[in-house]
Amino acid sequence: MTDGYGGRPDSGRPLAEAGFVPADWAPAFAAVPRTAFLPGLMWPHDAASGRAVAVDRAVDPEAWHRYADADVPIVTQWDDGAHTGTAPGTVFTSSSSMPSVVASMLTDLDVRPGRRVLEIGTGTGWNAALLAHRAGAGNVVSVEVDPVVAESARQALRRAGYGGVRVVTGDGLLGHPPGAPYDRVIATCGVRSGLFTWVRQTAPGGVVVAPWGTYYTYTEATVRLVVAGDGGSASGHFTRPVAFMRLRAQRLVRPGHSAYVPARGTGDAERSTTTVTEAEFLTGDLDVAGFAIGLRVPHCTHVPDRKQAGRRPVWFYGLTDRSWAVVVFRDGQDTAIVHQSGKRRLWDEVSAAFRWWQDQGRPGFRRFGLTVTADRQAVWLDEPSNVVSR
Ligand SMILES: C[S@@+](CC[C@H](N)C(=O)[O-])C[C@H]1O[C@@H](n2cnc3c(N)ncnc32)[C@H](O)[C@@H]1O
Repeated sequence: MTDGYGGRPDSGRPLAEAGFVPADWAPAFAAVPRTAFLPGLMWPHDAASGRAVAVDRAVDPEAWHRYADADVPIVTQWDDGAHTGTAPGTVFTSSSSMPSVVASMLTDLDVRPGRRVLEIGTGTGWNAALLAHRAGAGNVVSVEVDPVVAESARQALRRAGYGGVRVVTGDGLLGHPPGAPYDRVIATCGVRSGLFTWVRQTAPGGVVVAPWGTYYTYTEATVRLVVAGDGGSASGHFTRPVAFMRLRAQRLVRPGHSAYVPARGTGDAERSTTTVTEAEFLTGDLDVAGFAIGLRVPHCTHVPDRKQAGRRPVWFYGLTDRSWAVVVFRDGQDTAIVHQSGKRRLWDEVSAAFRWWQDQGRPGFRRFGLTVTADRQAVWLDEPSNVVSR
């Protein structure tokens, strides 16, 4: 395969030889170049600016290949396809995931030749092709909600020699019952609930791998569930933090700030102080504290503001009512001012959850696990019996 822009061949070697691809997946990464699944115009994450930047293969093939072969996520669709033009859109709605995350999730999935695999979120089709290389194309079904994205993946898969992969246009939350039972199910979009539908379509002893999280933060963690012998439940530990775009129906939609907080001042909000510090509370991207707080504080999201003049407000919004709270951290001060309004005392809930996480010894992602049955999902710490969130 060549690129048509100067004859540079598509090659899977740069990624196959990257340190994050385990030896048993290297042949698949070498045989299935990511470049064969990326559109001419794409928006890779640029580490220097921390933003998505437009790169057009026809304009700058060198940069296009550099990003395609780098360990970065690449946005391939904005705003459910409504966006046009080169500048980034508002919400990224399809992408080629970060190759190191792709490799780690495939490793968790434990795919072998002949295993039947269901993928949720076809996107570019690259992951489906990697699965097909390992399991056999006829054993892979992939469901994509967006018909335009699905069709372009079908074409890319065909061109790359994996036309046997069945790409279904539809809602992946429903799985794909005609192909069941599967031995492996992998979701490549974030999920909050509804995993039992996939469990039901998986054979006993089969594995379901999915990015799972709450609405409190964008931080999710990959969960690896093993389906019980009777098929009535699936359970397993989280493995590592990830940040995926969510299933369409499970995106966070909340009213804007002004729907919660008065335009001037803090209205009748109750004022207090806290000894929680900015340094301990905002530990950075993909932080496990945020993941843990989200488990203990349902129906709440938070937005840290940019720091200005040594002052950083962090806002909390209720998702089932208009309760809100803000904690204002200031450099050099031992206590921070808190304002809380509405039926809930969101900062009290959040700070209690944060202290709980500290008291447990600040557990990392791997100490948490998830069990799903037909009528509930429960997150636990260390043991399935130690439920921390339902
Ligand atoms: C991160 S991308 C998938 C990356 C893909 N596996 C690849 O190799 O390029 C997530 C995809 O999930 C799709 N998606 C979102 N909600 C979905 C749903 N309910 N059912 C199926 N696909 C969905 C999005 O349209 C998007 O294409």
